[in-house]
Amino acid sequence: MSGQNKLWGGRFEASTDSMMEQFSQSVQFDKRLYNEDINGSMAHARMLLSCGILSSEDVESICQGLEQIRGEIERDEFQWSNSLEDVHMNIESALTAKVGDAGKKLHTGRSRNDQIATDLRLYLRGQLDSTCQALTVLQTALVDLAKSEASTIMPGFTHMQPAQPVTCGHHLLAWNEMLERDYQRFQECRKRINISPLGCAALAGTSYPIDREMTAVELGFSSVSANSLDAVSDRDFVMEFNACAAFLMVHLSRISEELVLWSSPAFDFIDLGDAFCTGSSIMPQKKNPDVAEITRGKSARVIGNLVALLTLMKGQPLSYNRDNQEDKEPIFDTVDTIQLCIRVYAAMFPGVTIKRDNMKKAAATGYSTATDLADYLVRKNIPFRDAHEIVGKVVSFAIQQGLALEQITLAQLHEFCDAIDEDVFEVLTLEGSVAARNHIGGTAPDRVLEAAQAAGKLLDARASHPV
Ligand code: ARG
Repeated sequence: MSGQNKLWGGRFEASTDSMMEQFSQSVQFDKRLYNEDINGSMAHARMLLSCGILSSEDVESICQGLEQIRGEIERDEFQWSNSLEDVHMNIESALTAKVGDAGKKLHTGRSRNDQIATDLRLYLRGQLDSTCQALTVLQTALVDLAKSEASTIMPGFTHMQPAQPVTCGHHLLAWNEMLERDYQRFQECRKRINISPLGCAALAGTSYPIDREMTAVELGFSSVSANSLDAVSDRDFVMEFNACAAFLMVHLSRISEELVLWSSPAFDFIDLGDAFCTGSSIMPQKKNPDVAEITRGKSARVIGNLVALLTLMKGQPLSYNRDNQEDKEPIFDTVDTIQLCIRVYAAMFPGVTIKRDNMKKAAATGYSTATDLADYLVRKNIPFRDAHEIVGKVVSFAIQQGLALEQITLAQLHEFCDAIDEDVFEVLTLEGSVAARNHIGGTAPDRVLEAAQAAGKLLDARASHPV
């Protein structure tokens, strides 16, 4: 080796500029891949043994050494060195320091290019699984609340204007649908993450008689990548994970926006519980919905990370380029952010109190049963467009008189349409309105309870058989 301690130092005469060393190092952030790196190295070493490329003594020393290194890292005794650039070379040189020449043989038939791709796939697979487990806990909390609020009436909005009454359970299940699709998206993404690049070496494959299937099986991959150039270079699985995460954060951000509104005294629909709110240093009366606000804010960084990763990839020719090192910080930040948000949300939800009376009072304002009146007229054989026009006039009259729809007398209603009978007052109630929407996907309490129970069953099964 030349005058420096680099594992690649052979062809160099001068040593690396210290600024370059700092610029080039990734160990400060990629050391979080140590576990995957060690598991990948052990699988690789065992495969080299089974293919007759390394001796059993060497492989035994390698595996023992790596296990010791894992322990040192976990006990925070390991000396990470920036001059060794990355997690791979830090571990490999520590191994050689421990076990001598056997350590130098570990890199036979592989490259850091297939090594990092392997590490990152293993890491994201693990993080995807724990994200999905946490998501299941959050979804369960939502669905539990939906069950108890299946017949709670609240205003449903379009354009943020009161539109039609809905049940609170229905609204909560809408959130669950969003999160359920996020879960499904992650599961789809998992299939494309779980493919082994190991053995593709630097870019072209290796001249050793390796067994790629063997390492894939040992590392729990479902198949091996079909093209070595693609396998060492593309980070679409990183982008896809981040895209799934961005969808999730957009959903959490929308939910957050509603929680912020609902907990404001102007709405007063919910109490978020003291444990997950903060006060103001100046205004003694304040109780702020910080979890919701911070989550809404954090969606920005996950979306930003996705843009960073897409931009990072778009100009890269085949095959591996060092640009790819820049994928770590954004994707790690995304992983940390989504897990934090999901967990805080899951912890907060069971403490949310629904203020049923306030929700119902709000649903009673804004003429939200006007559509029910129009539908009633249609049932009396009036074409829908005419019915719409008639009800529009009734609402305008009610606004002028300061009346709710059900406070208008039958005689007054007859001024607008003589097809209206006494039975109209049933359809004008909030309960009648929601109960009438009694089909799959509708807001009727019976349907909501049914949907919540079905969702709950699915989530229970998922929780007891995690991937
Ligand atoms: N730190 C690098 C990355 O994140 C590891 C692979 C480096 N390969 C190389 N030939 N320098 O992609």
